[in-house]
Amino acid sequence: MITKILSTGHALPAKVVTNDDLSKIMDTSDEWIRQRTGIVTRHICVEETTSSLSIAAAKDALEKGGIDGREIDLIIVSTVSPDYCYPNTACQIMKAIGAVNARCIEVNIGCAGCIYSMDMADSYIRTGKVKKALIIGAEALSKMMDWTDRRTSVLFGDGAGAFVLGASEDEEHGVLGITANSDGNMCEAITAGGRPLDNPWTHIDPPASHYTYMDGQAVFKFACRKVPESINEILKPLGVSVDEIDKFFLHQANYRILEAVAKFMHQPMEKFPSNMSEVGNISAASIPTLMDQYNEKGLLKPGEKYILCGFGAGLTYATAYVRW
Ligand code: UT7
Repeated sequence: MITKILSTGHALPAKVVTNDDLSKIMDTSDEWIRQRTGIVTRHICVEETTSSLSIAAAKDALEKGGIDGREIDLIIVSTVSPDYCYPNTACQIMKAIGAVNARCIEVNIGCAGCIYSMDMADSYIRTGKVKKALIIGAEALSKMMDWTDRRTSVLFGDGAGAFVLGASEDEEHGVLGITANSDGNMCEAITAGGRPLDNPWTHIDPPASHYTYMDGQAVFKFACRKVPESINEILKPLGVSVDEIDKFFLHQANYRILEAVAKFMHQPMEKFPSNMSEVGNISAASIPTLMDQYNEKGLLKPGEKYILCGFGAGLTYATAYVRW
């Protein structure tokens, strides 16, 4: 029994913010953002929320796969920007899609979150506990940004992407390898504040900023090192060469990271799909959104071999090898 990606979906907020829009509210420029990152626009929540985007992406994936919400027996949402501390976002989705008997889990992992969720769902499916799983990466990162900090706020956007996964007897097509890793020594490299202790016995003043902090250069170097390492680690025991891979769906943080990985692995840039120019860095939503956009255009072909690789806060990284 293996795990197959049955369908994909995504949802983006209506409001589009350009680099020029940002240069009117802070000391930045279209030229800097484009050259250093490849980002041109991003979608920002005005009316939408993390849960409304999650629900829209989930319904999109279910509809595209012709799957009824009642068939779903596991929902995992990866988000670092939920609407509530509790209930978890997966429970909100369960209600909206009419799932009746699903395990509902929310994970806080960041940009590797969707592949981490796939890893968890894969374990449930392979052990026979679950037949169909809905996994979603959803972020309203705009509420996590200090909009006076040009180093972080220009990079991120809002959105949600979804996969429906199912148990399959076809051992040739599906998730043929998956791994998830962390380096906790670098946990300070990307942070956002939580709630300080506050009860009748103690009061701790809130930190000066709750907003996102990122040591961009440290994370950049980490990604350029770990992504190729992780891809090789997964392909080697399977006897698959990097040259056989048709597309590398990497987390969309910075176009220069895609270029560095492509160069290191001696692969052409055409094998590295990208949507960051349009959506920016949407963290856990990044890979499923990108894959759904390719799927919508008929660019995912049966039999093709894909790498999916996420990396970010934690620092965490996770890679899947998928035959479509
Ligand atoms: O999604 C989770 C994973 N995240 C990542 O993978 C992010 C990885 N890191 C990166 O993508 C890049 O490191 C950044 C895009 C975050 C930064 O690019 P960089 O080339 O590393 O720039 P830098 O931080 O070294 O900054 C260079 C200069 C600085 O000025 P000085 O000190 O040289 O005078 C910054 O103050 O660029 C300045 N700068 C800006 N200038 C205009 C930083 N942000 C901006 C900005 N507009 N938005």
